[in-house]
Amino acid sequence: MSKNKFTRRSFLATATAGSLAMASSITSPTAGKAASKSSRELAVLGGEPARSSHLRWPDWPHIDANVVQSVVNTTTSGVWSRIQSRTGTVVTFEKEFPKMMGMEHAVATGSGTQALSTAVEALGIGPGDEVITSPYTDMGTIASILMSKALPVMADLDTESFQMDPADVARKVNERTRAIMPVHIMGYPVDMDAIMAIATEHDLKVIEDACQAHFAEYNGQRVGTIGDLGCFSFQASKQISCGEGGMIVGHDKELIDRCYAVHNRGADRSGSNAIPGTKYRMDEFSGAVLMGQMPGIMERFEHRERNAQYLTERLKEIPGIIPQKKYEGTGSGGHYKYAMRYDKREFNNIDRSKFLQAIRAEGIPLSGYIRTGLHSEPWTEHILQMDLYKKMYSPSRLQDYREELECPNCETVVQNMLVLNGPGPLLGTREDMDSIIDGITKVYENRDQLAGI
Ligand SMILES: Cc1ncc(COP(=O)(O)O)c(C=O)c1O
Repeated sequence: MSKNKFTRRSFLATATAGSLAMASSITSPTAGKAASKSSRELAVLGGEPARSSHLRWPDWPHIDANVVQSVVNTTTSGVWSRIQSRTGTVVTFEKEFPKMMGMEHAVATGSGTQALSTAVEALGIGPGDEVITSPYTDMGTIASILMSKALPVMADLDTESFQMDPADVARKVNERTRAIMPVHIMGYPVDMDAIMAIATEHDLKVIEDACQAHFAEYNGQRVGTIGDLGCFSFQASKQISCGEGGMIVGHDKELIDRCYAVHNRGADRSGSNAIPGTKYRMDEFSGAVLMGQMPGIMERFEHRERNAQYLTERLKEIPGIIPQKKYEGTGSGGHYKYAMRYDKREFNNIDRSKFLQAIRAEGIPLSGYIRTGLHSEPWTEHILQMDLYKKMYSPSRLQDYREELECPNCETVVQNMLVLNGPGPLLGTREDMDSIIDGITKVYENRDQLAGI
């Protein structure tokens, strides 16, 4: 079917098929049985897979009749931009999503990167300033700092939680540091008590990159509501998604109003062209998709949480596959990824790449996730050579900066990571979760065969 023949009826049919596929995988009684049929020969070498290739993982993004109807309503209303209505989908989503986190003030944007960028700009962070963040993230985190011509300083990681290490953050604070941007990677909380203590001690702002951490909880608070500003992404792979979208939340109404002006090419809520800004507004179609996904969102979140806890419990049975460490105070994750560490010493010193080949052949969709720590990507050399950065920072600061880009723990994390996507697969049945454990167990028990791949 060509794209322009994709009618509302065929769209609804596709959406319904997707939802049915997901529903059938939630109730499939065969998933566990397929797993228990695993032969001793690894599937990658010709054996029968631990999980039958006929079984499907739940689809993502979530599409149902609510989502479709919501988009149809926006289309026919003719309200396609937020400025056309005070009751449109964007304004409504700006109230409803933060309400679920106990927050009142928010600004919706066109992406998570735009949300972070708006936050940096609204806090007045710019040339000559430094922001400490994690090298193990999406480039959007770092881009938001670079676009305000500030210096993104990389804090190395805790190799067990994969989060920025507060001790390294503390080491990297200097007189130019203006903010910390903790990234709640995989959707699990950073050690926020430690980060907030450093921020208080040095009078720094905290912009939480909660782009992966919708509804994650830390010390009874939703992640993204702890620092000065919290930023979310609704990009297609996220737990609630509209293709490309984002949001900033905050307790300080004045600061959120400044975010509004920054994202509204400088015009404040009264329409006065007040400050420098750009145009990062979310459109009404994105708002419609997001509002259409709101029914059932907490049930889906809780379903993932139960499955994640179950996997963590079952993985205790398998040496060499260690789930992401959670900090004290972690109530729940956001479940962007279910992440594990691969310890090759328990697998006859066989590299992760062979384990990944083997586990995928067993029908278990694990991947290595981020391929390179962002501290070693070309942008670092690029800014070190830019005249602008040479004007803003002294040669000795740039030399120190170059040395600070060493993040050996991040390299270790990159090399040993294993992830399962959260939004779709963690919506699976208990049998689906058992099939993951069965697949990993089979590869572990037959690890002698890995050398032959
Ligand atoms: C941790 C993190 N930060 C920032 C972003 C950027 O969000 P977006 O892709 O919506 O611009 C993402 C998106 O993948 C992310 O995972």
